[in-house]
This record gives sequence, C-alpha cells and structure tokens, in this order.
Amino acid sequence: MTIKGKVIAITGASSGIGQATAMLLAERGAKVVVGARRTDRLEKLAAAITAKGGDIRARAVDVTKRADVQSFIDFAKAEFGRVDVIVNNAGVMPLSPLAELKTDEWDRMIDVNIRGVLNGIAAVLPDMKARGSGQIVNVASVGAHMVAPTGAVYCATKYAVWAISDGLRQENPDLRVTIVSPGVVATELGDDISDPAAKTFLADLRKSALTPDAIARAIAYAVEQPEDVSVNEVIVRPTGGVI
Ligand SMILES: NC(=O)c1ccc[n+]([C@@H]2O[C@H](COP(=O)([O-])OP(=O)(O)OC[C@H]3O[C@@H](n4cnc5c(N)ncnc54)[C@H](OP(=O)(O)O)[C@@H]3O)[C@@H](O)[C@H]2O)c1
Repeated sequence: MTIKGKVIAITGASSGIGQATAMLLAERGAKVVVGARRTDRLEKLAAAITAKGGDIRARAVDVTKRADVQSFIDFAKAEFGRVDVIVNNAGVMPLSPLAELKTDEWDRMIDVNIRGVLNGIAAVLPDMKARGSGQIVNVASVGAHMVAPTGAVYCATKYAVWAISDGLRQENPDLRVTIVSPGVVATELGDDISDPAAKTFLADLRKSALTPDAIARAIAYAVEQPEDVSVNEVIVRPTGGVI
C-alpha cells in the first residue's frame, strides 16, 4: 500500500495547501477525510473530488479544541475503519512586530499552530501505537528554520512544530513522522494580517511564490514511500527564493 487505499485525515483543507493535498491524494486513490471550520468550502471540495470518482468525507473541526479533533478522527474511523495518515496542516499567520503587542493574535497562532498539531497527534497516536504503524505529517514552514521581523511568534510556533515532530519521531520508531516545511506559497495565509507593514512585507514576498500543488506533491512523496522509508523532512522553496 503506497497511497491507494490509505485513509488520510487532513486538517485545514478548506483552502490552500490542505485543499490541494486532499485533491492530489484523492486522485491517487486515498480515502480522504477533510476538516476545517468553513464547512461550505469543504462541501464544495468534497463534491469536486466525488465528481472525479474520489472517496472523500468532510467534517467541521476546530483544531484548537481537543475534543473536536478527537471527534474528527473518530468520524474518519467510523467512515473508513482506521486512520493511516494524519496531515496536521491547519495554520494561521497574523504577522506583526512584537512591540505592537497584538497578544490576541499571538494566542491564536499558539492555539492553532501548536495546540492544533498536538491535538491531531493525541487523536491518532493511541491507535497507531496499538497497530504499530501509521504516519503523522506536520506542516511546519521555512519559518521553523529562520526568523524574520514580524514573524517572531509565527516562527516560534513553527520551531515548536519542528521540535514536537522530531521528538515524536525519536520516541516512536514504529511510526513514520514527516515535517513538511514550505517556503512562500500563494494561499490565503496571512489574509488576516492587521499590521499594515507586515501586510506589505508579505505581498512583496508573494511576488515569487509556489502554488499549493507543489506542497501537495511533497506530502504525496512522503506518503507514497514504502513503509520502511520514513521521509523526516521536506523543505520546498520557490527556486531562488530565500523564504
Ligand atoms: N502559504 C505559505 O506561504 C506557507 C508557508 C509555510 C508554511 N505554511 C503552512 O501551511 C499550512 C497551510 O496554510 P495555507 O498556506 O494553505 O493557508 P490557508 O489557505 O490560509 O489555509 C489554512 C487552513 O487552516 C485552516 N484553519 C485555520 N484555523 C483553523 C482552526 N482553528 N481549526 C481548523 N482549521 C483551521 C483554515 O480553514 P478554516 O478557516 O475554514 O478553519 C484553512 O483551511 C499552515 O500550517 C501554514 O502555516 C504556509
């Protein structure tokens, strides 16, 4: 079993990288379970994938709530019997300088980007340990390796995702753990930036950006390897890009 037949749960699939990943993995024969808060988007995605003959289920999930993420995974198990792979992809990036003290935005990044990933891990780990197999893909960022002004808290959350993933890998040799670290990708990420300078900074960065399917292919690459091959990290930047 490479991708075909695998049950793959994806958070943050209502747009961008998560949506592109759901489409690609479904095309390759995975049974895909998608979650996010905007269920209208998920329903449209599910209809498009179903129309192409794909096998998909959609369910509302707020990754900041542990019980909600557990219900999302329980739903996937009820529909397809098990979860082979979780892609912890949901994320937010309201960039701003620390001195602006946008503490609510700091909290939101910590809750979605760190707590959300931990909630995803907690929801699948017991079953995967019991089976002695499974794959956890955590979407981090180039920001897990470098920090830029206005990105202190966002990058901190991604450094945390990197650390959690590497600890998970070391503690669980029976599982495959993958960090996918995108550079700049043209998505809705950062549409909620409230600091004008940070908005301009991101708009400039996006002048040279990947499209989300590039990251979907990186995720598919990690999933499709044989079970004895664990792709631990993939970093994907636009050619020539610094971020
Ligand atoms: N785009 C880039 O340049 C870039 C670079 C490096 C890393 N990344 C990472 O890639 C991942 C995907 O981002 P993207 O670029 O595809 O951005 P995006 O288009 O804004 O997608 C973000 C997804 O996260 C979901 N989400 C946000 N808060 C959520 C919550 N509380 N519960 C459940 N889902 C939530 C959103 O869905 P709802 O709003 O419907 O809930 C949406 O589906 C993120 O982890 C991001 O940090 C992106």
